[in-house]
Amino acid sequence: MSNKSGKSGPAAGRVLKMRIKKKSGLKESSRRWLERHMNDPYVQRSRAEGYRSRAAYKLLEIDEKYKLLGPGKRVIDLGAAPGGWCQIAAAKTHSTDQHPLVVGIDYLEIDPIPGVVLLQMDFLDDAAPERLMESLGGEPDLVLSDMAAPTTGHRRTDHLRTMHLCEVAADFAISVLRPGGHFLAKTFQGGTETDLLARLKQHFRSVHHVKPPASRDESVELYLLARDFKGRAPG
Ligand SMILES: C[S@@+](CC[C@H](N)C(=O)[O-])C[C@H]1O[C@@H](n2cnc3c(N)ncnc32)[C@H](O)[C@@H]1O
Repeated sequence: MSNKSGKSGPAAGRVLKMRIKKKSGLKESSRRWLERHMNDPYVQRSRAEGYRSRAAYKLLEIDEKYKLLGPGKRVIDLGAAPGGWCQIAAAKTHSTDQHPLVVGIDYLEIDPIPGVVLLQMDFLDDAAPERLMESLGGEPDLVLSDMAAPTTGHRRTDHLRTMHLCEVAADFAISVLRPGGHFLAKTFQGGTETDLLARLKQHFRSVHHVKPPASRDESVELYLLARDFKGRAPG
């Protein structure tokens, strides 16, 4: 590995570019991935600013534009590990350990985050919705899902699994959100089922896709943003 002078992306203001030698013993695809990761301005910025993931900037950028978070709002974060989105949500809602307003769930363990209740369980477990609602203690203003299925290497399978997570997250959001609340979920370009979009449009006043600058151009990842929940019919 060696340092070379050079200009970096806009977010970091850094000057050194890390290179990994071709003879490093890594497969070429892994070597390129690692090099890109180390030189990614968002990765560097997340380290400098104390966020646990570069994903944190995706939520920050979306929130800057759409103002989803705010003091006192209640938030559920599905697929929360390692915790970048929870960190942002806790800071923006002014959540504290005494009065937590943010609940995150992941089947991976997450190191504690001040102001956040963390559940280590599979969101697809039948008991998950109830556990989430008990932990939050009131209807959420925002349901977030950055869940992605573990990659199998088979693109179509990965795609379908992540779309399934998105659909289950949408059903959950529709069943628990406070009227006027919002739902933000990871999806894939060309992947959002017409049925899911139609269902969301029935329940939210505004539904569209967003691609924050922090989401890599070459990634097929997109976010589905459904705003202003119309509420459930009484009874
Ligand atoms: C892209 S990461 C989330 C990053 C997070 N937003 C952050 O800022 O740190 C996706 C997460 O979804 C989780 N996940 C995928 N399927 C899940 C499921 N069925 N239940 C709970 N978590 C799940 C994965 O374990 C992974 O940690």
